[in-house]
Amino acid sequence: MAGMTEGRIVSFINMKGGVGKTTSSITLAETSASEYGWKVLVVDLDAQASASYAVLGPERYEEEVAAERTLAHFFDAVAETGQPQRPLAGYVAHVDYDGGAGAPIDVICAEPGLRYTERALIERYYRLRMKRVVTASAPEGQTRRIMREGLGGLREIYDLIVIDCPPGISLFAEAGVACSDLIVLPTIPDYLSTLGLKELNRKFLRQLRRDGNLSGRTAILPTKVRRGDATHTAYLKKLDAMVRTGEIEAAFLDSMIAQSADIARALDDEHLGESFKDKYGNVREDLIEFASEIRGLLEDGLANAA
Ligand SMILES: Nc1ncnc2c1ncn2[C@@H]1O[C@H](COP(=O)(O)OP(=O)(O)OP(=O)(O)O)[C@@H](O)[C@H]1O
Ligand SMILES: [Mg+2]
Repeated sequence: MAGMTEGRIVSFINMKGGVGKTTSSITLAETSASEYGWKVLVVDLDAQASASYAVLGPERYEEEVAAERTLAHFFDAVAETGQPQRPLAGYVAHVDYDGGAGAPIDVICAEPGLRYTERALIERYYRLRMKRVVTASAPEGQTRRIMREGLGGLREIYDLIVIDCPPGISLFAEAGVACSDLIVLPTIPDYLSTLGLKELNRKFLRQLRRDGNLSGRTAILPTKVRRGDATHTAYLKKLDAMVRTGEIEAAFLDSMIAQSADIARALDDEHLGESFKDKYGNVREDLIEFASEIRGLLEDGLANAA
């Protein structure tokens, strides 16, 4: 274990879709595994399963779904019985790239059924309430508790757990964020992404914090940044001002992820299992800087907690 005694959890979330949540999750996971030799787990909370595909490729992904080894299956048992059937560790897909050129990372897959799982968790609660079962725990609290217990066991195995959230708010995203040591808010410096960030802060993070369910730090990561683009430059300034005035309760990371064809290409399944160096081409240095900043924040958090 490289420098940290217990695995740390980092989640990526924004209301807005398409801002680079999955891309940032995967690049952080791969960079940390390859540069620090960390044992890394990606947890996919998005029914689109993009992160699962990115880590496993389509064939391995289908195998995991057929074997019922996904987060949806884990929580389906909770929706049926109130408890997981087995520990979350039993739902991890272990990656073993051919030739070992890549930095292997593990993943807990999502799948489209996650949408129905969420609904089933909520329905169970109301069904029990109708039957006047007073001990029924509300779905938010129950999901959070079960996620925390599940991830707690995995913190002992992994150095870093990266959570890729769906766009918007979900029971699972709420629970994942509540368990996180660091919550990264990927944001394209433009009008709509900034709105997404403001809404996330106002409707989601603030409430979680108020209820005592947000203990991690929050930090904005500018993504898909086009240097020299007037809109992007203007919105980076606006975001900075929003952070300084407290309109958005988050810090600003020094790192940025530039708009880059190499990044978009790297997640393609043609590049599955390629080494970090080959895969990311020109943006490799930027990604190392990004991972190193995240590492610093995680280790700093550990020092503060000590
Ligand atoms: N830095 C980048 N440079 C170029 N393209 C990028 C970059 N980051 C992400 N993309 C591309 O933008 C699209 C959206 O990225 P991604 O899937 O990571 O966003 P997301 O926030 O996870 O989306 P969703 O809300 O659907 O989960 C993808 O096609 C991806 O390849
Ligand atoms: Mg995504």
